[in-house]
Amino acid sequence: MAEIVRDKNLKNLNTFGINASASNYAEFRTLDELRKLFDYQRTNDLQWYILGGGSNILFTEDYQGLIIHPVCSDIMTTHTEGDKIYVQADAGTVWDDLVGFAVEHGLWGIENLYGIPGLVGSSPIQNIGAYGVEAKDCIHSVKFYDKEKNKIFDLSASECKFGYRDSIFKNELKGKGVILSVTYCLSTKENPRLDYGDLRHEAENNGKLTLKGISEAVITIRNGKLPDPKILGNSGSFFKNPVVNRVRAEELKKIHPDIPVYPHGDNVKLAAGWLIDKAGWKGRRINDAGVHDKQALVLVNYGRSSGKEILELAESIKKDIKTIFYIDMETEVNIL
Ligand code: FAD
Ligand code: EPU
Repeated sequence: MAEIVRDKNLKNLNTFGINASASNYAEFRTLDELRKLFDYQRTNDLQWYILGGGSNILFTEDYQGLIIHPVCSDIMTTHTEGDKIYVQADAGTVWDDLVGFAVEHGLWGIENLYGIPGLVGSSPIQNIGAYGVEAKDCIHSVKFYDKEKNKIFDLSASECKFGYRDSIFKNELKGKGVILSVTYCLSTKENPRLDYGDLRHEAENNGKLTLKGISEAVITIRNGKLPDPKILGNSGSFFKNPVVNRVRAEELKKIHPDIPVYPHGDNVKLAAGWLIDKAGWKGRRINDAGVHDKQALVLVNYGRSSGKEILELAESIKKDIKTIFYIDMETEVNIL
C-alpha cells in the first residue's frame, strides 16, 4: 500500500500557503493503490478528501482524516478521427503540462486555459475557464472511480452536467469518488478564439496568432492581473461571478452605468471583481489577509494569515456586496 504519512504539513500543498496539517496523508499512482487507501480509510473510520494542486482550497483548520493526492501523470493520445485527436491525461498531471503537450503537438482547444494552476483531475470539477474558453468545450469523457460501488465509470461530457464553474462532481457525485483521468478532444484544425478582453490585441501585438503565440499572450495578460502564488498566497477568484436575470441587470445598469455585464444564456453575468472594487475593498488588508490591489476578486495571504482570517475577510466582503448591491455572492474556493 502507498505510504501513510501522519501529521503532514500542507503549507506547500495549498496555493493560499495556509499553515494547516492533515492527520493522515497519502499519494496514489494506480487504482490498486487507491483501493487499498480506501480500505485503510474504512478500517480506521476516517473522513477523506482528494487534494489536487491545492489551488482552489482554503484550509480553515487542520484536517482530521485522510488526504489523498493523485501523482499518476501519463499523457497519451488514445485515438484520432480526421482532425480530432483524443488525448487522455491522468488525474495527477499538472494542467499546464497537458496544455504544453497540446501546444507542442499543434493541437487546438485548450490554449486559452494556459497558466491555470492545478492538476488535470480537477479540471472538470469546476469546469475551469478563462479567456472565453471552458474545459467543457473540449472534454470528451471523464474516468471516475465510484468508491461505494467500487466501479469505474466513463462519463461523457453531457453526463458531467457542466455549467459555469459547475459540474456533476460538485453536486450528485461530490464526495462519492475520485476522477482518475480526463480525455480531451483536441483538433489539428486552426481555431483561434480571441474575443475575450485584450487577448486579440495582445496576441496581434506579438504578431503571433499561432498556438504558441496565443498561449504566451494569455500568460502575459494573466501575469498582469493575477498574483503568483509562489510570491503571494491566493486561490485565484475567491467568488464566482454572480448571475442575475435581465430585469435586475437593467436596474443595476441604471444606477451604475459603468457596471460590466455579460450575456449568460437567458441571464446576465456580472463581474464580482468590479462589485468588490466598487465597494471599496480593492487593496485593503486586515492583518495578513487582503484583497489584491490589481484584481479585487482575488483574496491574498500576505504571509501568516490563517484560513479563518481569510474566510472572515470574505464574509465581510460578501455582506457589503449584499448591502450595497442586494446581490448574493457564491464562493468559488472550496472551504475546508
Ligand atoms: P484542488 O484545489 O486541489 O481541488 C479542487 C477541488 O477538486 C476539491 O474539492 C478537491 O477535492 C477536488 N478534486 C481535485 N482532484 C480531484 C480528483 N482527482 N477527483 C475528485 N475530486 C478532486 N480557475 C479557473 O477556472 N480559471 C482560472 O483562470 C483560474 N485562475 C487561477 C489563478 C490562480 C493564481 C489560482 C491560484 C487559481 C486559479 N484558478 C482558476 C482556480 C484553480 O486553479 C482551479 O480551480 C483548478 O482546477 C484547481 O485545481 P487543483 O488541482 O489545484 O484542485
Ligand atoms: N474588474 C474591476 N476591478 C477589479 C477586477 C475586475 O473593475 O478589481 C472588472 C474588469 O475591469 C472587467 C471585469 O471586472 O471589466 C472582469 O474582470 P476580468 O476580465 O479580470 O475577469 P473576472 O471576471 O474577474 C474571470 C474568472 C477568472 C478568469 C478570468 C479570465 C471567475 C470567477 N473568474 O475573472 O478565473 O481567469 O475571468 O477569463 O469567473 C478563477 O476562476 O480562479 C479565475 C481566476
